[in-house]
Amino acid sequence: MAKQKITAVDFIKKKRRGERIVMITAYDYPFAKIVDQAGVDGILVGDSLAMVVLGMENTLGIGLREIIHHLKAVVRAKPRALVVADMPFGSYEISTKEALRNASILAKCGAEAVKLEGGEEIADVVRKIVRMGIPVMGHIGLNPQRVLALGGYKLMGKKEEQREKILRDAVALEEAGAFAIVIEHTVPELAAEITKKLSIPTICIGSGPHCDGQILVLHDVLGLSDSIPYFAKAYTDLRSIALEAVRKYVEEVKEGRFPSSGKNE
Ligand code: KIV
Repeated sequence: MAKQKITAVDFIKKKRRGERIVMITAYDYPFAKIVDQAGVDGILVGDSLAMVVLGMENTLGIGLREIIHHLKAVVRAKPRALVVADMPFGSYEISTKEALRNASILAKCGAEAVKLEGGEEIADVVRKIVRMGIPVMGHIGLNPQRVLALGGYKLMGKKEEQREKILRDAVALEEAGAFAIVIEHTVPELAAEITKKLSIPTICIGSGPHCDGQILVLHDVLGLSDSIPYFAKAYTDLRSIALEAVRKYVEEVKEGRFPSSGKNE
C-alpha cells in the first residue's frame, strides 16, 4: 500500500509524538524523487536555488517566476513529503494584497505550504495567508534575504536584545497560525528555548540539535556546493563522482572507445 501523504498538520502531530522531522531542499524532478525515496518529511523549494543552482551571490536575485519553475518540477515527482515553497525576496513585503496573491499562485502551482522570512513584522501577513487556507512555515534567526542590512551571514541571538527579539518573533508567528518555524543560525540555547516554548515544531539549520527537526541544503549534503557553511554536513562528494564520470566519457569519445562498434557495453 502506498504511504500516506505528509501534510502540514502531520508536522504538528510529529512534534506532539516527539518524532524528529527531517527536511531538505530540492529544486528539480530527479532529486525530488531521490530525497522523497530517502524518507524526508518535507521538501523545501528554497530560494537557496539562487545560489546553489543558479550561481548567484545571494538569494535576492530570484523572483516568483524562478521559484514556480522549480516548484513545478518538484511537484511532478509526486512526493509523499510535504512540499514547501519559499516566498522570494520582494514577493510578500510590499503589500498584504501582493503577498496573498503570490502565496495563492504558489499554492495553485502545487506548493502545500509557503515559507516567509521574518517575525513580528510579518505576523499579520502570515495570519492572512493562513486564513486563506495556505499553511505557512516561518523562518527566523538569520534571514538570508536581509543579508545586505545584516552585513553578512552572522550567528544570531548572542546579544540579549537580539535574543528577546527572536523569541518574540517565534511567539508572534505561532500566534499568527504558522504550522512550523525554521530557526537559522542562532545560538543553540535560544533554539532550544524556542522549541520548548512553542507547540509547533522548530526546524533548525545551524542552530544546534535541540530542535524538533533539521533542514539542510541538498547541494551541501551531496558535496555539490562551492563551499558549505561550517554547520552543514556533506554526506558524499558527488562533485568528484560526476567529474570522474564525465572525464571518462570525454576520454572514451576522444579515444574512439565510445560508442563501441556493436552493442552498448
Ligand atoms: O532557501 C533555503 O534553502 C532555506 C533553508 C536554508 C532553510 O531557506
